[in-house]
Amino acid sequence: KKTFKIAAIPGDGIGNEVLPEGLRVVEAAARKWGLDLSFETIEWASCDYYLQHGKMMPDDWFERLKGFDALYFGAVGWPDKVPDHISLWGSLLKFRRDFDQYVNIRPVRLFPGVPCPLAGREPGDIDFVVIRENTEGEYSSLGGRMFEGTEHEFVLQESVFTRRGVDRILKYAFDLAQTRERKQLTAATKSNGMAVSMPYWDERVAAMAEKYPEIKWDKQHIDILCARFVLQPDRFDVVVASNLFGDILSDLGPACAGTIGIAPSANLNPERNFPSLFEPVHGSAPDIYGRNIANPIAMIWSGALMLDFLGNGDERYKAAHDGILRAIEQVIAEGPVTPDLGGKASTQEVGKAVADAL
Ligand code: NAD
Ligand code: IPM
Ligand code: MN
Repeated sequence: KKTFKIAAIPGDGIGNEVLPEGLRVVEAAARKWGLDLSFETIEWASCDYYLQHGKMMPDDWFERLKGFDALYFGAVGWPDKVPDHISLWGSLLKFRRDFDQYVNIRPVRLFPGVPCPLAGREPGDIDFVVIRENTEGEYSSLGGRMFEGTEHEFVLQESVFTRRGVDRILKYAFDLAQTRERKQLTAATKSNGMAVSMPYWDERVAAMAEKYPEIKWDKQHIDILCARFVLQPDRFDVVVASNLFGDILSDLGPACAGTIGIAPSANLNPERNFPSLFEPVHGSAPDIYGRNIANPIAMIWSGALMLDFLGNGDERYKAAHDGILRAIEQVIAEGPVTPDLGGKASTQEVGKAVADAL
């Protein structure tokens, strides 16, 4: 019987408020379904650590984390203390890239009882998943500045799309679409404006699609795709996108479904060579930190995704995932909920309510 080792990494801001609630629920689920989990809290990977040490993480962070089965991660970033590109390239983006977590799964669902900002929409109308490429694409540190301070100053920011990197995320997305009832896939593109990367992406999508004759697929430019998330969210089932487009779609989708405070994500290394990382889609929210009003459901749902992935087909872990989702659904419908969902409850009250509903 294997014990799964989980590193709990709060990070910055509301990461410190929502992670304990995620752990509360995951631990309650472990008791109920007899799961074998052990936890260790990681005190580094935060902007405060940076202010003390001049770096976000110790030099041997990779060695110290690689033996874990999963990283359960809050959020990083406090732009008033550390510039965002320093804090994020020094932590989260390192995890994703060095642990080869190339699949980022970001489900979007409108739950019963949530006030939907889109008129006339009901639960069932919004139920899709964004599959985001997570290790390359537009997120790169390639490029540079030249002629700084002169009138010829320019900056160059390169994108990288490798055949291996594009094909593996597309394959994951098509495979996933194959398992879903609607068997539908939309690929985000922008091959009208971006003359190199996106025509290539489209080519690889078309090549992959040939291997999946049962999948109904299309490609949409990112601009109109955003508009259709708002106007026709019921059209979507699996949406596959490059790193940047996937990032944008995965805040827009949850906003259409009421709040980004419930949106979870799983950063997977599907081969399980390295730990996968589970975190809310949202960030450290400096604007509400310290008031205990952050919605912990994104963190809790991410915990459910973590158990499902760790179990890898084991019934108990599957049951724990489904049980947490039912508990979330119940609490969203009946309360208590945090202010982003129109309630008055605190982060901790919601966490306790979900744990009790288990
Ligand atoms: P953010 O997601 O932190 O906040 C955006 C807005 O949503 C804010 O008004 C915030 O109060 C609200 N919000 C976020 N999470 C919420 C929750 N659980 N409940 C209720 N309201 C919530 O995005 P931002 O303001 O652009 O970024 C703040 C910092 O977080 C930056 O440093 C950014 O780089 C970082 N960030 C980190 C991650 C991550 O670690 N995965 C993700 C996004 C942003
Ligand atoms: C996310 C975040 C990160 C991203 C930032 C903090 C680098 O916005 O996880 O969605 O863009 O991937
Ligand atoms: Mn984002």
